[in-house]
Amino acid sequence: MKNVLVTGGAGFIGSNYVRMALERHPDWHVIVFDKLTYAGNPDNLKDISHAFAGRYSFVAGDIADREAVFGVIQTSNVSHIINFAADTHVDRSLMEPGQFIMTDVYGTYVLLEAAREFKISRFHQISTDEVYGDIAAPGRSSEEDKLHGSSPYSASKAGGDLMCLAYFRSFGVPVTITRGTNNIGPFQYPEKVVPVFITNAIDNLPLPMYGDGRQMRDYQFVMDHCDGIDIVVERGTPGQIYNVGSGVETANIDLAHEILRLLGKPQSLIRPVSDRPGHDRRYAVDNTKIRALGWQPANTFQESIAKTVEWYVANEWWWRKIKTGEYLEYYKKQYGGRELPAK
Ligand code: NAD
Ligand code: TYD
Repeated sequence: MKNVLVTGGAGFIGSNYVRMALERHPDWHVIVFDKLTYAGNPDNLKDISHAFAGRYSFVAGDIADREAVFGVIQTSNVSHIINFAADTHVDRSLMEPGQFIMTDVYGTYVLLEAAREFKISRFHQISTDEVYGDIAAPGRSSEEDKLHGSSPYSASKAGGDLMCLAYFRSFGVPVTITRGTNNIGPFQYPEKVVPVFITNAIDNLPLPMYGDGRQMRDYQFVMDHCDGIDIVVERGTPGQIYNVGSGVETANIDLAHEILRLLGKPQSLIRPVSDRPGHDRRYAVDNTKIRALGWQPANTFQESIAKTVEWYVANEWWWRKIKTGEYLEYYKKQYGGRELPAK
């Protein structure tokens, strides 16, 4: 049995990955280590704790807490660390940068120290295409490109990546990194654009569109990203970085049109708001390197967005209880007073 520590496993991508990994790897025992911030949600793992009771356990803790991290790795005899834990939302990083540095840089360092101390067989870091900054069409960011993070979030993720590469080179920690594009799918906290748009549209509320809505993102289905991560954990070369993205970019305005069309809601729900400071115009990655490992996306953009909309329609129990109290406070702070006159 391999004891695999999945940090941030109670979040969006982490919980989808844990489900996939337990199904795919009968010889894995997965230990989720998660601080349960506002984005960490035990509901995301509810079915897993029943279906895989003998091969799954949960430990509450902070990756920046050295004692807690060293403790769980030693007690559970961990051989692999897969690090999803992070503060992840660009807009929140503009409000509170320090928290992002604590988790995404310092927390990654603590995990790397543990990997070094306990001679971990593989440390896999989940990173993002945002570390490259934006890129004009028709360019695509490749793994060797310079890092140009625009927000405190992307700069912190870049710091985490550089620390991983330093631990590979200086101490021989067997590190791999994947840089994924924007994920969509089940269990995404309704602060990222797709669940904000879907859940607002279901309730006939405005869809806040930043700036001119022509910013482009590669919106990939979360299970395709998880598949890429799993392939790299199994077959990636230590010291290497792999981009994971569909290679198809969509403008935010077109994304909103498609969500409203799928839900049968009026396009007039789209509401322009003032732009995000430092807003990256376009992300696009070259995915040649991960394709060479045998990865390819199983879902087109159309399939990914349709499956995502279907999931939110069918799972109101999950998001309705999130969109209360603290969330509504955040929403007011984030969007209040930003509406622009309709064109
Ligand atoms: P999320 O915000 O949904 O979940 C993050 C999880 O990490 C939560 O469960 C939270 O409780 C936990 N966490 C936060 N701080 C922690 C700490 N200090 N110690 C332990 N646990 C902590 O995030 P997500 O969208 O699932 O993203 C997961 C990873 O994937 C992140 O590293 C993110 O940078 C990366 N990523 C995300 C996307 C995307 O589109 N969402 C794209 C590419 C890469
Ligand atoms: P987001 O989901 O926050 O991901 P990221 O900024 O990390 O790519 O945002 C995706 C795109 O959607 C980005 O261009 C900003 C835009 N956006 C909106 O137009 N309205 C919103 O309410 C949000 C949250 C994002």
